Amino acid sequence: MSDPAKRSPKEHYQLLRRLSCAQLWAEEVPAFDRAGPRERIANVAIIRAVGVVFFESGTPAERDAARQWLQSLLHDPEEKVRRYAMTALPKIGADEHEEAALLALLEKTHSAREKQSLGRTLEKIGGAATLAAASGSSLPRTAQKAAANVARQQAASSVRLDARLEKTRVHLRTRTGLEEILEDELCEHAANFQLAHRAHSLLALDPLGPFSWADVYALRCFSSASLVLGTAKHAEEIAKIIAAPATQKLLTAATAGPIRYRLEFADRGHQRGAVRELGDRVFALAPQLLNDSRDAPWQITIHEIPAGLSVELSPRLRPDPRFAYRRRDVPASSHPPLAAAMIRLAGPRNDERVWDPFCGSGLELIERALRGGVRRIFGTDLSAEAIDITRENLVAADLDSTPATLACLDFRDFAAVDGLHPGTLSLIVTNPPLGRRVPIPNLPGLIEDLFAAAAELLEPGGRLVCTNPTPAKPSTRALRLEFRRRIDLGGFHCHLEKYVRV
Ligand SMILES: C[S@@+](CC[C@H](N)C(=O)[O-])C[C@H]1O[C@@H](n2cnc3c(N)ncnc32)[C@H](O)[C@@H]1O
Repeated sequence: MSDPAKRSPKEHYQLLRRLSCAQLWAEEVPAFDRAGPRERIANVAIIRAVGVVFFESGTPAERDAARQWLQSLLHDPEEKVRRYAMTALPKIGADEHEEAALLALLEKTHSAREKQSLGRTLEKIGGAATLAAASGSSLPRTAQKAAANVARQQAASSVRLDARLEKTRVHLRTRTGLEEILEDELCEHAANFQLAHRAHSLLALDPLGPFSWADVYALRCFSSASLVLGTAKHAEEIAKIIAAPATQKLLTAATAGPIRYRLEFADRGHQRGAVRELGDRVFALAPQLLNDSRDAPWQITIHEIPAGLSVELSPRLRPDPRFAYRRRDVPASSHPPLAAAMIRLAGPRNDERVWDPFCGSGLELIERALRGGVRRIFGTDLSAEAIDITRENLVAADLDSTPATLACLDFRDFAAVDGLHPGTLSLIVTNPPLGRRVPIPNLPGLIEDLFAAAAELLEPGGRLVCTNPTPAKPSTRALRLEFRRRIDLGGFHCHLEKYVRV
């Protein structure tokens, strides 16, 4: 099929890319091997195609054969062929044999371009041998990435949540509209932190003394937390802040294992070049801090602020320890800090009887039950799988002893649920479907039915806390509006509302 002379390299690659491993291996690869130098150079797209196709659909044996073929091409007399082979290798799963071949080539070649390509491949697959060869060479980035690869293989790094941290400004970011609920939560933790200022989706806190990440993660309503390391005007200053002795001390105290961090510019989108350059600068100043995005325990984010660039450090905790009970999700699961904020908005009460008509994976019910004082929870959902997931998450949250009635049905059929009787609930808390993923034929009608159910089932003084994606309001005076804020649900808005049954 291949007559590369008649096609652009890109078109040729697109055609080859559609072939199977067997076709590439039986026809294209032997044809490439038989060809003379000029033809091989014109046909380098086959190398890239083998890398991608064998990675995506090759069996382990096929991948192994492809890897050996690519390795053999590292000895090709043509630099372009060698470059394509080294670029294709990492995906296929190169090991120390390929690493040795690449390092031998690095020693031999005089071409700056080839050295650069070798450096990039070794960044991905290099280990101890690359680290030894690249340290002190003209490839500091390769040395840093190899050091990170070695560190990652030797020991998993993690954040020590209980490590004692010196007083440093803390930024808590939250979904727009939830700031005052987060501030209310902060009041409960007034012994540890005081509010310095509140801005759009941000609370700045000053710790009142030494503190730990565990103290910060005792708050449930924020989306992300960071320590402000400093404010800079340009890249050199950012690097100095990250490499500063105070930052190193903080990172050393709070990291178990090698210190690896991911870098990101928050407001500028994908900034690969700037991130790599900044990582190089930091490495030159503090070689024990390794810029490495793979499973790094830390994230350093550069935020644009009026005074310049705020350099902030956050732990990358997967799963978020506050919501580690989430064993499974439904497709439209609630944002967990929003579920926590809704429970805070509901306010505390003893002897709570709480229903989530659209319980999904059960976050609101679980967040409420974790606060205690619950007599029974009720969860309904149209999806049987959602009910199973809620049950599983309740067990993971150690709430299996909380009396729970879960039923797979349309919430309008609540009368079929044992215990859901008029005037008996103290709280309804829910995130209804928003009609974005799964179209809902009459979403305002569904919200009106929710209001009607709340008016019927809540006892006097009972609360309804819900997100409302429509302008629908209760048609009955039985529900009095107490709170309404426009909130960001991750790119689109709706209202968070609280009503009280009068
Ligand atoms: C936004 S999700 C709820 C997310 C949930 N709060 C969580 O923590 O995962 C909405 C849920 O409503 C359910 N649903 C949609 N229409 C329903 C109806 N008429 N009655 C009961 N459940 C319904 C969907 O199956 C979905 O699980």
